[in-house]
Order: sequence, then C-alpha cells, then structure tokens
Amino acid sequence: MRRIKLPAHIALIMDGNGRWAKRRFRPRSYGHRMGVQNMVRICSHAFRLGVRIVTVYALSTENLFRPKEELDTLFDLIRTYFSKKKDKLLEMGVKINVIGDLSVFPADIRENILRVMDETRSLTDGLFNICLDYGSRQEIVRAVNAAVAQGRFVDEASFSALLQTGGLPDPDLIIRTGGEVRLSNFLLYQAAYSELYFSNKMWPEFSKRDLEKAIENYSARDRRFGNVEEED
Ligand code: IPE
Ligand code: IPE
Ligand code: MG
Repeated sequence: MRRIKLPAHIALIMDGNGRWAKRRFRPRSYGHRMGVQNMVRICSHAFRLGVRIVTVYALSTENLFRPKEELDTLFDLIRTYFSKKKDKLLEMGVKINVIGDLSVFPADIRENILRVMDETRSLTDGLFNICLDYGSRQEIVRAVNAAVAQGRFVDEASFSALLQTGGLPDPDLIIRTGGEVRLSNFLLYQAAYSELYFSNKMWPEFSKRDLEKAIENYSARDRRFGNVEEED
C-alpha cells in the first residue's frame, strides 16, 4: 500500500455469511464457518498493517432470536474457536478481549473464553475485541443503571468508561460488509465520529485487498470533528 494514514482502531460488521453460502447452494452454517476463517485472516492482516485495535461484531444480542438450528451452529463455532482451534486466535499474537453479555453461553464456553482472555492478557502489540451477544442499546442502558446505582452524575469521559468498551479509543473506521447500510445496534455511542465504509462484498469473500481499499478510502477522508479546515 502507498503511504497512508492508518486508522488506530477499526471495527468490522461482518455481515453476509448466510447469503454468501446460499448463492453457492450451501447451508448457512457453511457461510458462518467460512466467515470465522475469514475473520482470522482479515484481522491478522489488519494487525500486520499496523492497526492497533480491531473490534469485530460476531454475534448481536438480536441474533439470539434466530432459529435454534442456526444458533447451535454459531455456538458450536464459538466453542471450537475458544477450545480446539484456539491456536488460530492465539497465533494472532494480540490481546483478546470478548465484549458482550456472556451469561447467555453455557459454562464451558464461558470458561474457555475467560481462559483465552487470560492467556493473552500480557500481549500489548494489539487488541482484538470480539463482540458476542453484544447490543449497543443494552450496553448504554446498563451503563446508565450503573451510574444511577452509584448515585452519581456522569460526563462524557466517565460515561464512556462505564461502557463495555470502557477506556478504549473510539473506532476511527467502521467497515460493514454484506451491502446493508446500517449499524444494527453496534457501537452507537462510540461511533459518534467514526468514518463509515460499506462494502457490497459478503463477509466470507471480503479480501485483504478489500481491507486495504477501505483503509485507503479512509486515509483520503477529511475528518473535521465539527471544526473547520485549516487555511493553507
Ligand atoms: C453475519 O452474517 C453473521 C451473523 C450475524 C452471525 P448473516 O448470518 O447475517 O448473513 P446474512 O446477512 O443473512 O447473509
Ligand atoms: C449484524 O448483522 C450483526 C453481525 C454482523 C454480527 P445482522 O445480519 O444481524 O443485521 P441486520 O439484521 O441485517 O440488521
Ligand atoms: Mg446479516
């Protein structure tokens, strides 16, 4: 890639697994399997390029209303990637942090998630946030209730510290694949000044080059944060 301004934090809405599989006359479960493989490939590439934080939307709270058969597939994939295949995650060489309400998962999955988080705790070269059973409105309501329970008023900094992303810089760039142009309850508070990039590619076919194109597109944008451009 030519000289570019790299986003420090990229968030990814990995959408389109089911449609990608359907177009190939395969079950949705196949799309999810290929989707997870692509997640590792693309996020590893992002870290290799020098991105410090990558946050992926892997399962939304609303996704839990999908048919049981699909949820079984998704839970099995999560189980596998935090146990038998956890090397795939560990090979990324970055700290892994799972964000979301883990109480929905069976105890074995929860324990394995906590183990992987613990094993990667001291890795400081990058941070990989995996959002599982995550919903931004739920996160905001929980943060409000936490502040109320503590009987205190908040300001922007103390409020964002109460969010599940607490303490992290906001995403500079949010990429959504799958052709839909919406956030679907992802990082609503944190996205206030994020640059948004939408790709028509389905997630399993989103390539390293597609990621680079998104970053190049970001790099050419003028982020004003409500201010005016400096005069030359
Ligand atoms: C994204 O792909 C993965 C999850 C939401 C778990 P989808 O499963 O939403 O795939 P489409 O959008 O139906 O193609
Ligand atoms: C967003 O995709 C959630 C994830 C990618 C995990 P959805 O497929 O759930 O979003 P909608 O339903 O099209 O808004
Ligand atoms: Mg979808």
